[in-house]
Amino acid sequence: MNWPEELVKEAEQNMEPYDVEGFVLGAGDDQADIMIVGEAPGENEAVKGRPFIGRAGAELDKHLDYAGLSREDVYITSVVRSRPYKWVDTNKKGSGGRRKANRKPNQKEIDAHARLLDYQIAEMDPAIIVALGGVAYQRLTGKNHKMTDVIGRSFHVPVQKKGDSGYELTEKTYTIIPLYHPAAVFYNPGIKDTIWESLDHWKREIEKNSHRKG
Ligand code: URA
Repeated sequence: MNWPEELVKEAEQNMEPYDVEGFVLGAGDDQADIMIVGEAPGENEAVKGRPFIGRAGAELDKHLDYAGLSREDVYITSVVRSRPYKWVDTNKKGSGGRRKANRKPNQKEIDAHARLLDYQIAEMDPAIIVALGGVAYQRLTGKNHKMTDVIGRSFHVPVQKKGDSGYELTEKTYTIIPLYHPAAVFYNPGIKDTIWESLDHWKREIEKNSHRKG
């Protein structure tokens, strides 16, 4: 995807006050029908500048494979482009007693990078937007639903884009499919069955979409 330089610069400047590192714009086919929106890069992604290359990425690959897709069939991006971190204590030798740990992006960080995601959605105009986890789902829809209440469903709704005085809704509606973030199963193995059911739902949506395109 070609990026207006000012947009990227503005996003980097907006983010300067916060504890974040690295910058990942996205990867995959920017002409694809499916956009996948994650939360924010983790440590590996921030270092390499590519999305989902760590443990969560291996899980995402399994999910894509189950849905009959590869990374080349989709475009992968995220709400925030830099890794939000916090300092935590550690006994690890050579660490100086502390290390950086991942954390969820806060609202200011989400706002700082909002125009990047808005630009990607407008440019790509995807038929399906998959929201990986609550941060992506809320950023896109503006709704505060719990993932357990929306998983396995599709929503044909406008998405939020950032205006000068807050978020507005797009005129266009998109098919939003909320899925659990691929890392969620590491903390909550009990959601495994629901994950596969939600992927079955996603597969059916892909099928519907391909028929529509004829
Ligand atoms: N989580 C995300 O949302 N994106 C990544 O690239 C990695 C983990």
